[in-house]
Amino acid sequence: MSRRVSGGRRSGNVRVWPWAPKGTERRGFGESEKARNLTDIMMSNELPFWQGSTPMALLDILEFPDPRLRTRAVPITTFDAALSRLIDDMFETMYAAPGIGLAASQVDVHRQLIVMDCSNDRSDPLVFINPEILARENVGVMEEGCLSVPGIFDEVERAQRVRVRAKDRDGKVFECELDGIRAVCLQHEMDHLDGKLFVDYLSTLKRDRIRKKLEKERRDRPAKPTSDEVPAGAALGR
Ligand code: NI
Repeated sequence: MSRRVSGGRRSGNVRVWPWAPKGTERRGFGESEKARNLTDIMMSNELPFWQGSTPMALLDILEFPDPRLRTRAVPITTFDAALSRLIDDMFETMYAAPGIGLAASQVDVHRQLIVMDCSNDRSDPLVFINPEILARENVGVMEEGCLSVPGIFDEVERAQRVRVRAKDRDGKVFECELDGIRAVCLQHEMDHLDGKLFVDYLSTLKRDRIRKKLEKERRDRPAKPTSDEVPAGAALGR
């Protein structure tokens, strides 16, 4: 999920954020140029949030109306280093986008895995594997956006408080209560695991208009260079 951020401006295909250090403008998703830029930044120690020495990969995010986004994700049964690596790459991809939630379905890995961080300072990273909602209450409306439906925001009605059971990256079961944006974000991401998008809650007319707008924007984008990144699923032996 993404949220509207005031202050960001769109300049051609480059989204410029006022707090991004010079030279780190985020370009279109999954371009190898961006991956190189981020590697340069990481090696130069300009940004403090990377730890460890393994370079992380930015994954390509599928965009509406890509039919792969309609795939139903299957539960995860193996909790190993490849899963851990995928989780780390999904966090990097989500933070770079920038977004507050990402489901594995969006990076073409159809397993029940969600990463989220609804804080403003990357202080609340959450991982949900094979999540189930045990209880919902306080239905309300909140504006949502989605990294797979870039630049589109609209209101969706959902429970504003949920109780969830899931597994963590080590396979340990936990339960927690989420409210406000975190509750909404989790439900938005769980929809992705079912092959559902937030635009499905809008009218057919609106959804059609959004599809046409995004298809036009994609046509107008400069051709994508051949990516030398490892596909997201490779680590899981897909
Ligand atoms: Ni989304």
